[in-house]
Amino acid sequence: MAKVELKNVWKRYGKVEAVKDLSLHVKDREFFCLLGPSGCGKSSTLRMIAGLEEISEGEILIGENVVNEMEPKDRDIAMVFESYALYPHKSVYDNMAFPLRAGKRSYTAAEIEERVRHAGKILEISELLDRYPKQLSGGQRQRVAIGRAIVREPQVFLMDEPISHLDAKLRTHMRGELKHLQKVLNATVIYVTHDQLEAMSMADNIAIMNYGVLLQVAPPTEIFNHPVNQFVAGFVGDPPMNFIDCRLEVNGDEWHMVNDAFKISVTPEMKAKIQSNGNQFTGSVDAVLGVRPESFIISKEKAGGEDFQGEVYVTEPLGEDMIVDVTVQDDQVKLKTSVDLDIGMGDIVWLGVKKEKIHLFNRQSERAYF
Ligand SMILES: Nc1ncnc2c1ncn2[C@@H]1O[C@H](COP(=O)(O)OP(=O)(O)OP(=O)(O)O)[C@@H](O)[C@H]1O
Ligand SMILES: [Mg+2]
Repeated sequence: MAKVELKNVWKRYGKVEAVKDLSLHVKDREFFCLLGPSGCGKSSTLRMIAGLEEISEGEILIGENVVNEMEPKDRDIAMVFESYALYPHKSVYDNMAFPLRAGKRSYTAAEIEERVRHAGKILEISELLDRYPKQLSGGQRQRVAIGRAIVREPQVFLMDEPISHLDAKLRTHMRGELKHLQKVLNATVIYVTHDQLEAMSMADNIAIMNYGVLLQVAPPTEIFNHPVNQFVAGFVGDPPMNFIDCRLEVNGDEWHMVNDAFKISVTPEMKAKIQSNGNQFTGSVDAVLGVRPESFIISKEKAGGEDFQGEVYVTEPLGEDMIVDVTVQDDQVKLKTSVDLDIGMGDIVWLGVKKEKIHLFNRQSERAYF
């Protein structure tokens, strides 16, 4: 296995700048996710690593080797796409054996047999080896495609939305399977997805991109708890973080987040973090308060001194949890609570926030203050 490094990589298609000055360090044996919305440059990045797309500028290393000029087949990588592109007229066995028979290195029949059967066992498709692709379910086909990638035991696996077209239940199942497989194989995986839940649940590290620009690289919990800006904050988490315009009012030592609905004091810890990032304030500055749905406290009576009022717009019970949309002055917020809370449309409720969980952003730059 091997590490993968991108140094100031650019991808231009004519005038389109699909990837801009991207530097990444994917560690050996890491499950690394490239996450971002459609068109942000994920596939372009992966295809440059694979050698399917020319690198406009910069350098890509696999292991210790600069691969810019290296043919795809010499890079010792395997790619799994969304469309599995299995050969319809070959059996599962022959589909999986194909890269061994067609590759540069020659394998004996016994070696091929050994590798295909081993991959079949790992992927739990041993009993399907004689079937043809059309006789398989979507999830089984996906496993065959992965099997075909693992038989060569490449240094790095590149996966581009490999499960995004499967139905929701199978996708959830395959998430666990892929993560397990990556650990079993001790493989370096670079996995492209626009689905934040996939990235959050599988990755050791996530790189979030938007418009070809890398915004943040960090483990999932760090991305969730300390997003660098509003885009990242809004992209991970479901339902997404609520953003509420407010002002940060600084009056000597007294700091508050204020709008027409609330006045929430800034704790000394928050203040220290804001200041340690080099911010100096006097008076009032436009800001955005970020609160995740699970970071609100909702009650029917006023519970805390800083609680503010809202009106229930709608409730969505989800078994144990309940999503509640609450109208607060001009804003609508979504929060998560227990289904046991006896509230309904039109009820007046009181909201508080878990201060250790809130976020505050600069309204102009959208960067997080802490
Ligand atoms: N061959 C091409 N010629 C011109 N522009 C391209 C080409 N391939 C991609 N692009 C453009 O480059 C940008 C990045 O595309 P890319 O396929 O890398 O995005 P992506 O993040 O994989 O998106 P998706 O989630 O939709 O697959 C897009 O604006 C796209 O239109
Ligand atoms: Mg893509």
